[in-house]
Amino acid sequence: KMINLELPDLPYSKDALAPYMSVETLELHHDKHHMAYVTNGNKFIKENNLNEESIEEVVKKSYNSIAPVFNNVSQHLNHMHFWEIMKNNPNGKIPSELENKINEDLGSIENMKEAFINAGIGQFGSGWCWLVLNNGKLEITKTPNAENPIVHGHIPLLGCDVWEHSYYVDYRNRRPDYLKAFVDNLVNWEKVSELYSNNV
Ligand code: FE2
Repeated sequence: KMINLELPDLPYSKDALAPYMSVETLELHHDKHHMAYVTNGNKFIKENNLNEESIEEVVKKSYNSIAPVFNNVSQHLNHMHFWEIMKNNPNGKIPSELENKINEDLGSIENMKEAFINAGIGQFGSGWCWLVLNNGKLEITKTPNAENPIVHGHIPLLGCDVWEHSYYVDYRNRRPDYLKAFVDNLVNWEKVSELYSNNV
């Protein structure tokens, strides 16, 4: 029995995230880029006869060992998270339980957002920046290329795609502007909070 990856539908319409993320970006990013990870992931899982029972297990098993599997399946995992964690939510309020934890571990909401943006700016080339749980503490991290935080034993609560395909149409080369628009206006904080509550 082999895992079969499937492209999920977006949990909103393609014009729902404008003006922060355009229809054109979502068409390319979801329909083309994510689809390619799904197609190639399935092909490489098959070619390597991987019979792990979950996507997470495939990602952990292929990390640093089977690059074509890892790159595609981990990107699939990353993007499933990314679509779910977004919503058109200008200056969205952070639920108080999560807000308290952010204040405790990261100083303040402002500090958390600034560290998140700086992690995304500081990721040279392609990759992701994250708010994760590491041994029960919130941390801001960044990862290169396809790497998902689970390979480091971290639980991803909020991830932002800083591959150029995620922002070039809307922000050209201005990654900092994209990251600021993301943390201020595109995060579904109820969803982040739910991930937090499910893991403490
Ligand atoms: Fe992407």
